[in-house]
Amino acid sequence: MIRENISLLPYNTFGIDVKTRYFATFGSLAELHGLCGQVTASGLPYLIIGGGSNLLFTHDFDGWIIKSDMQDIRVLETDAGSCLIEVDAGVVWDDFVAYCVQHQLYGAENLSLIPGTTGASAVQNIGAYGAEAKDIIETVNCMEINTGNIFCFRNEELQYGYRTSRFKTEWQGRFAITSVRYRLSRIPKLNLDYKGLCEAVEQQDNPDRLAAVRQAVICIRRAKLPDPAETGNAGSFFMNPVIPKTHFEHLQAQYPAIPHYLLPDGQVKIPAAWLIEQCGWKGKTFGKAGVHPKQPLVLINTGGACGTDIAALADRIINDVYGRFNIKLHPEVIFL
Ligand code: FAD
Ligand code: EPU
Repeated sequence: MIRENISLLPYNTFGIDVKTRYFATFGSLAELHGLCGQVTASGLPYLIIGGGSNLLFTHDFDGWIIKSDMQDIRVLETDAGSCLIEVDAGVVWDDFVAYCVQHQLYGAENLSLIPGTTGASAVQNIGAYGAEAKDIIETVNCMEINTGNIFCFRNEELQYGYRTSRFKTEWQGRFAITSVRYRLSRIPKLNLDYKGLCEAVEQQDNPDRLAAVRQAVICIRRAKLPDPAETGNAGSFFMNPVIPKTHFEHLQAQYPAIPHYLLPDGQVKIPAAWLIEQCGWKGKTFGKAGVHPKQPLVLINTGGACGTDIAALADRIINDVYGRFNIKLHPEVIFL
């Protein structure tokens, strides 16, 4: 279905009211194929979206916004050790996690309650509480927009890293992801290494350990992160920066309490939330944009903000953190 000149307010979690020239949804691969021809012939820009939970629209979009309406979950193979499931790109990510937990399939539970769709999980390599989508993605099915050709990529071809993939870099905008195959484990093994997670699981008082992990993650997230249905936001606005060890040692001499994680390659990851808090931004507002009082890595729409209001706050934060720590923060959120 194609609609013209519609507001994207219901389609982005920041709650930004901009318009798109065309808004197209597809319910089948044949429909997507037809759409690819139309979009390419128009010569206009296009963007495939899922739940709009990692996007910041800074102006009207003079082109095509395309969204999958395909919603199926199919079990392809199951054996004693694992289960291979194909999930259409339009399925809400957390519905898929709930499905896995209900069916005693292990691997997705730490990623409970992350907003958005399964299609985007394969672009963003979503991550939380010591797990990442790449750990369970086996293959990704796509259609190339300019040709309508179908491709199936293996995980190893997708250059997954911290919040990145080949779909975000070299192949940005080239493919519409139509479905993702995830391999879940049937062996009851939990991943509780993330600080505080194990304790939160014990508090659930649930004999179903897998369901308890899901509940614990949901509790932690609800306590820290704003609900986009109430307060516009896109989760972490910035990625956690990774700096060379020499730079870290220099900072640690000045700030002995600086939190940090040593990475296998010898570099050091610093929580951006700490850097932003140190610069005095936690809970502060700037125009109609603000910094969440419980998690300073999350920028919020305090009501009626434009994308440019949020971007202006982000710029000030980037400047302040750079001025004080000589660290350049990079947005995780995609600016449009
Ligand atoms: P969108 O925001 O619509 O799109 C994101 C990108 O994916 C865009 O580049 C878009 O073009 C592309 N894309 C989407 N669907 C397709 C498709 N079918 N084919 C091709 N490209 C596509 N992220 C985390 O990693 N961990 C978290 O813990 C986390 N917590 C969050 C908490 C909150 C409250 C919010 C609002 C966001 C959070 N996020 C988190 C960010 C967000 O949930 C993820 O980035 C998510 O994957 C975005 O999904 P989406 O469907 O909304 O994608
Ligand atoms: N911190 C502060 N002040 C605060 C909050 C946190 O200094 O007010 C510091 C503390 O040192 C804390 C550390 O930041 O230990 C880490 O905080 P948290 O566990 O909340 O995680 P995060 O690094 O801020 C990352 C992801 C989240 C993901 C969580 C849980 C990024 C950019 N963000 O946040 O992902 O849910 O870990 O794994 O990597 C997202 O990508 O949108 C997102 C929400």
